[in-house]
Amino acid sequence: MSSEALKRAVMDALSSVVHPHTGDDVVASGHVQKLEVEDGGRVRFSFLLKTEDPGALIKHARSAAEGVDGVTEVKVNVQLPQAGSAGGAPSASGGGLKPGSVPAPTPRPGLLSEVDHVVAVSSGKGGVGKSMVATNLAAALAAEGLRVGLLDADIYGPNIPRMFGETRRPRVTGDKGKEMIEPLEAHGVRLMSLGFLLEDEQPAIMRGPLIAGILKQFLEQVDWGPLDLMVVDMPPGTGDAQLSLVQTIDLDGAIMVSTSQAVATGDVRRGVKMFEKVNTPVMGVVENMSGYICGECGTEVDIFGSGGAERLAREMGLDFLGRIPLDPAVRKAGDAGRPTVTSAPDSPAGKALSEMARKVFTALRADGAKVPA
Ligand SMILES: Nc1ncnc2c1ncn2[C@@H]1O[C@H](COP(=O)(O)OP(=O)(O)O)[C@@H](O)[C@H]1O
Ligand SMILES: [Mg+2]
Repeated sequence: MSSEALKRAVMDALSSVVHPHTGDDVVASGHVQKLEVEDGGRVRFSFLLKTEDPGALIKHARSAAEGVDGVTEVKVNVQLPQAGSAGGAPSASGGGLKPGSVPAPTPRPGLLSEVDHVVAVSSGKGGVGKSMVATNLAAALAAEGLRVGLLDADIYGPNIPRMFGETRRPRVTGDKGKEMIEPLEAHGVRLMSLGFLLEDEQPAIMRGPLIAGILKQFLEQVDWGPLDLMVVDMPPGTGDAQLSLVQTIDLDGAIMVSTSQAVATGDVRRGVKMFEKVNTPVMGVVENMSGYICGECGTEVDIFGSGGAERLAREMGLDFLGRIPLDPAVRKAGDAGRPTVTSAPDSPAGKALSEMARKVFTALRADGAKVPA
């Protein structure tokens, strides 16, 4: 087929993708721009994603183009609106990942296009085990042979390096002006964290609006390579910074982590609302530190209470992804810089975490991420 004919076929396929809110197809609505078809069936186009658009639209457009006979490769250059996005001023070419530097004006094309699924792990407040859950979700699925990345987006308290026992500094490769950062690989997971780039004693004091900018650079200037799944450890809370972050990343879904008693503060509800606002499906709720299993006698002791997060999930019509007990194995694994699912797979928490990871991936595979009503 000639490139012209292939281009028409791709355009037709893209016209079948309909915006869930407006009912218009993404070609007619101007979301798809600059469609080019090169020899050998390589397709590229820009996708203009407005704030209110669901990120999944891009995925649907990509699949539509990939489904056309003769297409060998699809690259999507996602364009985000400039107004209201963090920073906005163009960075010097190449930028470099310095805390406080401004985001590049448009995302570098084709990077996250190699990532099949992106899932955020979020919590209303800190200290509930969000990073622990993100770490073990990533490590469990990597251990099953998936290609997994973990992006530590909690720039206030980046603790992914510690949880993976990773103290190296990432390498920078590529020509001047096109430098890329190589993620570090630990326990089978490709990692990027601001913690790798900051000096230990340097406080990560950054104002909210900068978060999305730094994160955008993590998406654009980190050479993630092809991944089946990227897990994003979100900063706690539901403020503007978190909101702009979830608008920056094309998320397939979000997982909320809470303890039983933290449910009472309403933070989880606010978190769910935030994701609904940007049309990111909440895939479910994890209840962490749910009961303590006595190491001596094996009996369960209900220290902080349990069941609160599960009840909330039911009330809100969300899936419940499991209860992770308070377990000394988790602390030991954390201290040793090793994920619980691989260092203590038979511990009560290790088992619960593996089960949770399997549920999450099954949901994604089924293209599961349920769309909120
Ligand atoms: N189920 C658990 N059992 C024992 N310790 C836990 C458990 N979940 C988390 N922790 C510990 O509690 C602390 C806070 O967890 P973390 O994942 O860092 O929370 P967050 O990222 O939400 O701030 C960490 O030291 C972690 O190892
Ligand atoms: Mg954390």
